[in-house]
Amino acid sequence: MAIEHEDEIKDEKNPRPLDEDDIALLKTYGLGPYSTSIKKAEKEIKDMAKKINDLCGIKESDTGLAAPSQWDLVSDKQMMQEEQPLQVARCTKIINPNTDDAKYVINVKQIAKFVVGLGDKVSPTDIEEGMRVGVDRNKYQIQIPLPPKIDPSVTMMTVEEKPDVTYNDVGGCKEQIEKMREVVELPMLHPEKFVKLGIDPPKGVLCYGPPGTGKTLLARAVANRTDACFIRVIGSELVQKYVGEGARMVRELFQMARSKKACIVFFDEVDAIGGARFDDGVGGDNEVQRTMLEIVNQLDGFDARGNIKVLMATNRPDTLDPALLRPGRLDRKVEFGLPDLESRTQIFKIHTRTMNCERDIRFELLARLCPNSTGADIRSVCTEAGMYAIRARRKTVTEKDFLDAVNKVIKGYQKFSATPKYMVYN
Ligand SMILES: Nc1ncnc2c1ncn2[C@@H]1O[C@H](COP(=O)(O)OP(=O)(O)OP(=O)(O)O)[C@@H](O)[C@H]1O
Ligand SMILES: [Mg+2]
Repeated sequence: MAIEHEDEIKDEKNPRPLDEDDIALLKTYGLGPYSTSIKKAEKEIKDMAKKINDLCGIKESDTGLAAPSQWDLVSDKQMMQEEQPLQVARCTKIINPNTDDAKYVINVKQIAKFVVGLGDKVSPTDIEEGMRVGVDRNKYQIQIPLPPKIDPSVTMMTVEEKPDVTYNDVGGCKEQIEKMREVVELPMLHPEKFVKLGIDPPKGVLCYGPPGTGKTLLARAVANRTDACFIRVIGSELVQKYVGEGARMVRELFQMARSKKACIVFFDEVDAIGGARFDDGVGGDNEVQRTMLEIVNQLDGFDARGNIKVLMATNRPDTLDPALLRPGRLDRKVEFGLPDLESRTQIFKIHTRTMNCERDIRFELLARLCPNSTGADIRSVCTEAGMYAIRARRKTVTEKDFLDAVNKVIKGYQKFSATPKYMVYN
């Protein structure tokens, strides 16, 4: 015992240097059992990726050029000389149409009018009067038919990707869904039913109701459901700086819609442009009114409207211009009311579907505790319940969290509620 103690003291004064085994032991500190093999595998993967890249050579995307071995400068040069950029013109008239010696009157902007023939690559059936065409710069022959010119900001409004909302994500609103489907889907899927009866299918739907009751949501579900092209316009997008611009956008919008096989145009927050006309003495709102009148005009369809359905959504139906609302323009008016008890339960279930909840939460009880609340309120309750769980560092949301959230959202925010002014059902 005494000797050991002496040894220790001696050690402290004159520490023994670490030998290799000790160092190896120290180096393993903090390493898991597989760390060396993982590191090795990672290095191998890196090497392999590098090798593959080396074998591929320089990619076209790196430099914008193909590999020098593939360059063909001579033919490129020749092509550049042969192909001149075309000029945009408008074909104003066709002389002797449907005959062999048909001639075309074209109008090149700011230059002159010409009577020309067709290029080799265009067939006479492709060219119509009033069309935009591309002409070459020597003989001004028509080389290519061009699509109508449409404002890029209008083209941008097309919804290409389908939203991921389906009818299943809309709680309650059964009647509304039914009505929408009747107007939107039925005429597109079974047009013959209307032809047989000899009636025109309804042209459009106006959705109205308090904020947060699912108007936009349902429109997105409709967009998801149909194969038709879906164009979404926010009312305020059509309010433009210059006189006549808004109306022109509406015209181009419908022109684009008409060029599709089937199309749904959705005007969200239409009160931005559809307000009732009045004279404010200054004329500041005239432009907005003109835009609205153009919509009215397009709805009436002096031009054949093709298979276009118009949806509109607003939460101030009382401010809309009566001209916009009269039957024949927007035939259907769908009211989105506050959800009833059953719908609220369903909305709770929809919004908690992706949440990590305790089992056996009594959603019906929760729904009963939120009278006069909208879908958006209920969604807010669910989020708030999640926040309570996070605050308590729990991984699941309990019923107590929901009850607290109801207290906070429904009772606490009552002052902000938009609903009391509206109809109250339950
Ligand atoms: N019936 C419902 N079922 C499920 N969720 C709903 C429902 N109604 C509203 N919500 C929720 O509320 C949110 C807001 O709804 P939405 O955007 O449709 O309101 P809105 O009616 O368009 O209101 P606003 O008139 O203010 O534009 C939705 O994203 C959705 O999560
Ligand atoms: Mg909306």
